[in-house]
Amino acid sequence: MAAYPKAPDVRPFSDLESMSRAAARFFASVTDRAVEGKGRCAVALSGGGTPRRTYELLATPPLKDQIPWDRIDFFWGDERCVPPADERSNQRLARELFLDALPIPPGRIHPLQTDLSPRIAARNYDVLLRHFFGGAFPALDLILLGLGEDGHTASLFPGSDALHEQELWVVEAHRSDEPFARLTMTPQFINRSATILFLVAGAAKARIVQNILVPSSDSPSLPAQFIKPMRGQLLFFIDREAARLLKTTR
Ligand code: 6PG
Repeated sequence: MAAYPKAPDVRPFSDLESMSRAAARFFASVTDRAVEGKGRCAVALSGGGTPRRTYELLATPPLKDQIPWDRIDFFWGDERCVPPADERSNQRLARELFLDALPIPPGRIHPLQTDLSPRIAARNYDVLLRHFFGGAFPALDLILLGLGEDGHTASLFPGSDALHEQELWVVEAHRSDEPFARLTMTPQFINRSATILFLVAGAAKARIVQNILVPSSDSPSLPAQFIKPMRGQLLFFIDREAARLLKTTR
């Protein structure tokens, strides 16, 4: 896999807490700048465990009182096809940890329709994104992404056709070990973002972080390596444990 055309901005932090605090402050700075500049901001959220603390901090003073919540539209980079009340739902995760505690107009929260068939839900979200963003570039002002130990991000899994999708912005996805389908934004859409921020923490991620950030020329293309902003900024916030192997290669 070719290395990144423009090196990502990799920021190591001593632990998950300091990484989360930095991520929450970064969220505030990006949203402030977007709202200052154009009166609104569009953010896509990630699922998984890593962003939990960041989400909690966004709903806690001082940031809770500083961010222009009523000017921000919220999307999801991916979703599991389970009911919104299901504990596996990415929508439920974000609502419980911060969205429901904030003065966000309901019409600015755009969940995927997991009550519909995955095919129709994917198509509807694709249409929604095109209606919302049109041909505007960049599209999202910020997308938060996690990183799986196999190199997946959002619900873009190794070997998935979605990695090479050139037209659609949202597609159905499947993980062999899960009974439910998923929906995911494609690299084609994600890479239209102004700012892409990966949040990665924990010793279990050290190997994949090194494989992603220091790819060997013959390594297979990992899903997270398909995330290369067309004109935007790519950042990795990683804690010390996840950065452990990077130190040995620098
Ligand atoms: C999901 C996420 C997924 C997640 C990674 C990392 O819906 O689960 O979109 O891509 O970000 O699996 O998850 P952790 O943060 O829990 O390690």
